[in-house]
Amino acid sequence: MVERRERTVSWRDGRVRLIDQTRLPHELVWLEIEDERTLGEAIREMRVRGAPAIGAAAAFGLALAAHASSATTVEALRADLAAAADRLRATRPTAVNLFGAIDRTLGAAAGKTPDEVRAAVLAEAQRIADEDVEACLAMGRLGATLLPDQATVLTHCNAGALATVDYGTALGVIRAGWQAGKVRRVLVDETRPLLQGARLTAWELAQDGIPLTLITDTMAGHFLHRGEVSAVIVGADRIAANGDVANKIGTYSLAVLAKENAVPFYVVAPTSTIDLSIASGDQIPIEERRPEEVTAFGGRTVAPSGVAVANPAFDVTPHRYITAIVTEVAVIRPPFEDGLRAAVAARSRKDGP
Ligand code: MRU
Repeated sequence: MVERRERTVSWRDGRVRLIDQTRLPHELVWLEIEDERTLGEAIREMRVRGAPAIGAAAAFGLALAAHASSATTVEALRADLAAAADRLRATRPTAVNLFGAIDRTLGAAAGKTPDEVRAAVLAEAQRIADEDVEACLAMGRLGATLLPDQATVLTHCNAGALATVDYGTALGVIRAGWQAGKVRRVLVDETRPLLQGARLTAWELAQDGIPLTLITDTMAGHFLHRGEVSAVIVGADRIAANGDVANKIGTYSLAVLAKENAVPFYVVAPTSTIDLSIASGDQIPIEERRPEEVTAFGGRTVAPSGVAVANPAFDVTPHRYITAIVTEVAVIRPPFEDGLRAAVAARSRKDGP
């Protein structure tokens, strides 16, 4: 098995370095991306994926655009950056980290000369990446305290090091729980249609030597009903002000099954995933992806040609199904509204002057 020893997304010598996640688990291929349009394509095609990872990648994408721009005035450079930001925003609609990282990087694009602006953009992108790693480590520490001893944890999709700059959100909690001797086993949903659980989470856990059992998504209810799951732990792509959570398709069904079987359901996400501008999950845009992702399995077509297909990439879990939301600032319990506001405010104070 190949090993991953560096950050999933990073800046190196004027290029953005990232793992091509479409090639895992068979090959560990590092891409060295030199221009913002190729980086946008990598986000759209899910070579890099997971809410925090695409936020950091897009911020570095703006740094690529700034360095490629031949603008000789600050105004012209800002116009080039705004155009690049529009292209990057159009890549994927659901994860709010993408939009937050782009806005934050543009907001930091200050300076008296184009070179000062270029340096400021890169510095902000680097800060976003560094803060994501810190946040993941903090969520791991906080979230692990929620786990009982000898826990069997069920997770969906990949909210690991591959979905972040490093360490992971839901998988960060599992890693920290494992290190604390509390996690016995992880049940990993394969996560149809793109198999992030089977391809990515299983790969990450195996690398860390954490015992895992791969199941199909449809088996989760069976194990929950038999009392074999201590907690369900997932990541998030966007959390509305009332605590409703958008995450990988299939999360909602899992949350309902967890509640029905009195199993705690934890969402682990940094404050950069909280969108206080959205009152409830109904307003979260849900990405619809290509039909071929559903009609084919492992590259082989399995459905009759021309069949009608729906392929929403995410669903919304209403807040009433969520036991707690773990952020880097605090573990937030229902009712979520005040706790989410306080976490975002605490985060902004830390970032402030
Ligand atoms: O479509 P993907 O693979 O980008 O979806 C990823 C998820 O849904 C993750 O659970 C979420 O982004 C949290 S990642 C820490």
